[in-house]
Amino acid sequence: MTQDMRQTKDETLIDPITRHPDFHDTESKIAVFGHPLHAMTVTFPVALTFCCFGADGLYWWTGDAFWARAAAWAAGLAFLIGVAAAVTGTLELLFVPGIRARAAAWTHAVIAVTFIAVTGANWGYRLTGYESAVLPYGILMSGFCVLMVSITGWHGGKLVFDYRLGTSNGK
Ligand code: HEM
Repeated sequence: MTQDMRQTKDETLIDPITRHPDFHDTESKIAVFGHPLHAMTVTFPVALTFCCFGADGLYWWTGDAFWARAAAWAAGLAFLIGVAAAVTGTLELLFVPGIRARAAAWTHAVIAVTFIAVTGANWGYRLTGYESAVLPYGILMSGFCVLMVSITGWHGGKLVFDYRLGTSNGK
């Protein structure tokens, strides 16, 4: 392989976004003493979504109304704290140039907003009668929410651990 060919091959391996002048400005701005609010808030909707699905399963198994009520509370809190997480995430996306420049950050936002919409529907449906809502549509929706939040959460983790978005670059 000639020097020219090697150089061309290396050039194609360079991520074009890393050449963007603002890319390295990826440090979280929506943070308390450098601790990003988004990372602090996302854990709640993730955990509550799993709790909702678990409570639906326990209601199906035991028939105890307590679990149907617990699932309705979990869906509602997952939605409300999810909206708060979406607000902090959106502010990062809009105000941090290096985050804005990454297409993956926008992909994460689209998946996350879809998740919030389904979780909102899951909660709203339960407000019409928390016991009657569980079978079959409530549990189907919470199963779908588990899938969505897993994809969103995994993708959000990718932004931090692969692309280092929201992290300090040691300046
Ligand atoms: C419009 C909505 C959202 C936007 C624009 C957004 C944007 C971002 C951004 C820019 C990051 C990188 C870290 C940072 O800057 O703080 C991130 C991380 C992450 N996001 Fe979101 N996000 C949104 C909603 C959500 C929701 C609803 C969830 C889950 C319920 C979620 C889960 C995560 C997770 C788990 C991380 C990794 C956090 C870490 O490990 O530190 N995001 N998100």
